[in-house]
Amino acid sequence: MGKTTRELGCLKTGDSIMSLTGPLGLPTHAEKFGTVVCVAGGFAVAPIMPIARAMKQAGNRVISIMGARCKDFIFWEDELRSVSDKLIVTTDDGSYGRKGLVTEPLKEILESGEKIDRVIAIGPSVMMKFCSETTQPFGVKTIVSLNPIMVDGTGMCGCCRVSVGGQTRFACVDGPDFDGHQVDWDLLAIRQRNYLAEEKRALENWQCQYGGHH
Ligand code: FES
Repeated sequence: MGKTTRELGCLKTGDSIMSLTGPLGLPTHAEKFGTVVCVAGGFAVAPIMPIARAMKQAGNRVISIMGARCKDFIFWEDELRSVSDKLIVTTDDGSYGRKGLVTEPLKEILESGEKIDRVIAIGPSVMMKFCSETTQPFGVKTIVSLNPIMVDGTGMCGCCRVSVGGQTRFACVDGPDFDGHQVDWDLLAIRQRNYLAEEKRALENWQCQYGGHH
């Protein structure tokens, strides 16, 4: 989306970046819960994969739902299916799989009466928010992976501040996983938009400098 993403996307085999720090934050907790629904929006199929696999290995029945804008953005469908007992694919425009948003099959599963013990939802904030709102009336614990703007990633700058259950938490050290029913989604949305003007300017400068070929 932004300048740095484009820069990374321009790297060729053998190129390098100056440094890489990690692992940061807390690992996702996996144990035998019973039936776990893993919901991935857009590119979150990548982070949901190891979680679905770990949940499966821990002995859970895993139902996965992956959603994308359209067919061109679908990837790792077979990979996710290989670690899931059931996989549902949705696209916003209906160009592949089921037409609609991921929350629709999620709601149907909850309404079907099948006992769901946990939901993991990863994707854009608004998608995680709506997944949490979908599961809340059913009282199913829902874990989301928050993606506020981060700077140092080690709990020092406070940039990744989020409010969960009325408490201030730092997503980089206390997260990224939090209880979706406790997250202050409005605050997260405001804070994510804090630097939109700077982000836009950085991307424009970069495109000028490199002729916009990337
Ligand atoms: S990114 Fe700086 S405290 Fe989390």
